[in-house]
Amino acid sequence: MDNLKVGIIGLGGIARSHCDAIETLDNVEVLAVADLIEEKRREYMGKYDVPKSYATHTDLLKDPEIDAVAITLGHQLHHRLTVDACKAGKHVLVEKPMAISLEQCDNMVAAAAENGVKLMVGLTQHYYGTSIKAKEILNSGALGPVITAVCYMSKNWSYAGRRPQYRSRYHGGGMWLTNGVHVVDRLTWMIGSQAVSVSAAIGTRAHYQAADDSATAFIRYKNGLAGIAIAVGFADGAPDYECQVICANGTLRFTEHGGKYVKVGKNDQWENVPFDEPPSTMHNEWKAFAEAIALDIEPPTHGEWARHIMEILFAAEQSAITGREVALESGPGWFNQRSGSPVTTQHGWI
Ligand SMILES: NC(=O)c1ccc[n+]([C@@H]2O[C@H](COP(=O)([O-])OP(=O)(O)OC[C@H]3O[C@@H](n4cnc5c(N)ncnc54)[C@H](O)[C@@H]3O)[C@@H](O)[C@H]2O)c1
Repeated sequence: MDNLKVGIIGLGGIARSHCDAIETLDNVEVLAVADLIEEKRREYMGKYDVPKSYATHTDLLKDPEIDAVAITLGHQLHHRLTVDACKAGKHVLVEKPMAISLEQCDNMVAAAAENGVKLMVGLTQHYYGTSIKAKEILNSGALGPVITAVCYMSKNWSYAGRRPQYRSRYHGGGMWLTNGVHVVDRLTWMIGSQAVSVSAAIGTRAHYQAADDSATAFIRYKNGLAGIAIAVGFADGAPDYECQVICANGTLRFTEHGGKYVKVGKNDQWENVPFDEPPSTMHNEWKAFAEAIALDIEPPTHGEWARHIMEILFAAEQSAITGREVALESGPGWFNQRSGSPVTTQHGWI
C-alpha cells in the first residue's frame, strides 16, 4: 500500500513533534508544509526533507497528491481550516482544543461526514505510553470496577513567554481550553462513560489576562460515577501532574510529566508497572490516525469524542459563570457516535 502523504499546516512549535513522529513511521510521509512565513517553510523543508511548500493552507489543499493534513496552528483557526480541508477531500488531524465553540465542533464533525474523510483531534496525552497502559489495566478488570478518578495538571503558566492568543479567551486561550482539555480527555476515558453534567469554578487568579488560568470541575457521568478535573497555571510553584483512579479492588496512579510512571496499589503498597515507550511523543497518535484511514475505522479521539470533551469544557465555563451545575446539551439519551463506523477496540466509544 502507498504511504499516507501528509501536509502540515502551521509551522509553529508543535509542528516539530508531528514531523518527528512521522519520521518514526514507515507508512507516512510529509509531502508538503504550509506557513505564511517563508523562513519557517524553508526551515521545515530543510530539516525534514520535505519536497513541497505553500504559503497558505488554501494552496496546499489544492495539491491532489496530499491525502491528509495536520492543522497545527492557533485555536481560533481550527474550525475554518478543518472545514476547508474536509471540503478539499483531505483527512484531518487537528490540534487540540478542537475549536472554540460547540457550534464550530458540530460543523467540523458534519464536514468530515459529508466529505467522507476521517477527523481526529490531537489529544496527545491520550496516546502516551503511560495512558495506554493505565487504560489497559482498567480494561483487564484486575482492579475491579472504577469508583472515582481525579486528574490534574498544575504548572507554571509561563505568562511572560505565553503568546497573546493563549492569554485571550476570545481566541480560545486560557489554561482550561489549552491544557484542561488533556485532563478532561483522560479523566473521561478512564471513567469510561459520557458526561451528563458539570459543576466548576474557573477563574483568572494569578495573572492579569483576558482568559482563565485555573479550573476545578466536578463531572458526573452516565454510569453514575463522578470525577474531578483540575487544571491550574500558577505564577510560581512546582509542577505536578497525575491521574488517580480508585477502583473497588485496587488503585491506579499514572503520569507522563515530572516522574513518568504507572503505579498500581494493592495490599497497601504501590508497585510500578512497566509500559511501552513510543519512539517519539506523537508516534502512537500518528500510528492511530494512519490506521484509521487505512482500515476505514474511526480514529480513537475522533471528532465526536473530541466534541464531547469540548462540550464538558464549555459547560464547565458556563457553570463557573452561573454558579450552578450545568446539564450537558447532548442529554442522557445521547449515547452513541453518529457515524456508525467501528472505533479502534483499545479506545472505543462508550
Ligand atoms: N498536543 C499538544 O500537546 C500540544 C502542545 C502544544 C501546542 N499544541 C497546539 O498546537 C496548535 C499550534 O500551536 P503552536 O503554538 O505550535 O502554534 P504557533 O502559533 O506557534 O504557530 C502557528 C503557525 O501557523 C502559521 N499560520 C497562521 N495562519 C496560517 C495559514 N492560514 N496558513 C498557513 N500558516 C498559517 C503562523 O505563521 C505560525 O507559524 C495549538 O492548537 C496548540 O494548542 C498542542
